[in-house]
Amino acid sequence: MNSTPILELRKATKRYAGIPAIEDVDFTLLTGEIHSIIGENGAGKSTLTKVMAGVVQLSSGQMLVDGEVVSPQTPNDALQMGVAMVFQESALVPTMTVAQNLFLGQEKFFNRLRGIYISAQQFLQSLQFDVDPTAQVSLLGAAKKQMVEIARAVLHEAKVIIFDEPTASLTPEEKKYFFDLVFKLKARGVSVIFISHALEEALLVSDRITILRDGKHVVTDMASKFDRERIVQAMVGRDLSQTLYGQRKTFVRRQGKRVLSVQNLRMAAMVKNNSLSVFAGQVTGVFGLVGSGRTETFKVVAGIIKRDFMHGGEVLLNGKPVRYFVPASAIRDGIAYVTEDRKIEGFFETKSIADNIYLGLLAKLGGSRFLVSRKEAAEVGEHWIKRLNVRAISKDVKAIELSGGNQQKVVIAKSLVQDPQIIIFDEPTRGVDVGAITEIHDLINRLADEGKAVVVISSYLPEIMALSDRILVQRMGKVVEEYSATEANEEKIMYAAIH
Ligand SMILES: Nc1ncnc2c1ncn2[C@@H]1O[C@H](COP(=O)(O)OP(=O)(O)OP(=O)(O)O)[C@@H](O)[C@H]1O
Ligand SMILES: [Mg+2]
Repeated sequence: MNSTPILELRKATKRYAGIPAIEDVDFTLLTGEIHSIIGENGAGKSTLTKVMAGVVQLSSGQMLVDGEVVSPQTPNDALQMGVAMVFQESALVPTMTVAQNLFLGQEKFFNRLRGIYISAQQFLQSLQFDVDPTAQVSLLGAAKKQMVEIARAVLHEAKVIIFDEPTASLTPEEKKYFFDLVFKLKARGVSVIFISHALEEALLVSDRITILRDGKHVVTDMASKFDRERIVQAMVGRDLSQTLYGQRKTFVRRQGKRVLSVQNLRMAAMVKNNSLSVFAGQVTGVFGLVGSGRTETFKVVAGIIKRDFMHGGEVLLNGKPVRYFVPASAIRDGIAYVTEDRKIEGFFETKSIADNIYLGLLAKLGGSRFLVSRKEAAEVGEHWIKRLNVRAISKDVKAIELSGGNQQKVVIAKSLVQDPQIIIFDEPTRGVDVGAITEIHDLINRLADEGKAVVVISSYLPEIMALSDRILVQRMGKVVEEYSATEANEEKIMYAAIH
């Protein structure tokens, strides 16, 4: 890292309908540095970086690249200036292949499609990325999608690469690989902006850290001058003394009625003779590496994966066999699934927060009610917005205009409004800030206390440990171990997940 600024923002302000999402922010990115931007959900991290990447334009203030005032109007503009962004939600064209995405807009340089594939193959190999250039992007996992986006940035010789929550959907191994990659980029002289809610990650990889609060710049300093406490203090503007995941569970809830039982479930290559039970009044944690079939198992339970893919086995709800073809039937029977993929399955992007939550209720009530009652929607919305502390610059914003973490809360509210008896959370705190994680965990605990059967699928072991009364470990398509919270420890669980 040297001390020449490659990119600067001066008094950067972005307003939506007159309300600032970021205000008077000064920011300097140095050549070859890794610079983390940290802040609560809605603090303005994505907005700040979207300005740099030409996705949105400043309402006032200036942006400079290499000392020259610029104002990129589109991501492509920004890319021409050397600024690339890897988005919080992937920006690749899902229906196209890896190679087509890499060379998007440059097809004219190739006279045959085959040429694209050969070039892409060579280029991916030079980066040591194990991605098939002919694969359709929609079929790739999160880590591979990210590799394609990084490859695209490197291909365009970006001097600045912005990563908005790149590690949220990666496994621990993938994360390690990702950070190796970031260090390689740095070694090439690329400047990296890194956004993450995992404070430890930011502390570990950054040269410098900038903290935003309510759209304003709070502090920028060397990473070595920060620790977790100082970051949290600056993020929230007050002391948040009980740190996250601090206490271990001291008691285990009593097992209630067996409400759900999965028997010998088989599904393509993902789920192999999986059997498990879920009980009322408890949190059942489901741990496993990505690809261990956790999500697929519970998507079958909730009717999200259709019967065609289900090759055998049984699902029993309160002792009776059930088979759902659509989520709506599962919802009507009291099974809610809170998605890990808020963009695709979560909500109606162009509707308001309240309408989205109300639509959750209508889904439960079924075809009998079509009309959205404005007043009722507003009331229901209001209640849940308060209960989950959904924050937006105004209450009329559309779901798409919410910050990532707040979108996650709306997805949760939409399911809870259905008052389910079984509620399955798939990675419930992905992309959620430190304060909000505590709020969501409190909520999950309260649901179990109220007698609901709660399932928490998480790849984050401390989250599993903090919430679960019972822990199921899945490996290669089925549950291989079960622990009560009192006998479990991280080593045992990890061992079962891997061996
Ligand atoms: N298009 C938009 N219209 C209206 N408000 C918006 C729009 N985009 C963002 N906002 C608002 O600007 C504020 C900052 O949002 P931003 O997405 O930058 O937050 P963030 O720090 O990235 O949060 P998170 O950690 O949850 O991703 C939020 O209050 C958000 O609702
Ligand atoms: Mg964001």
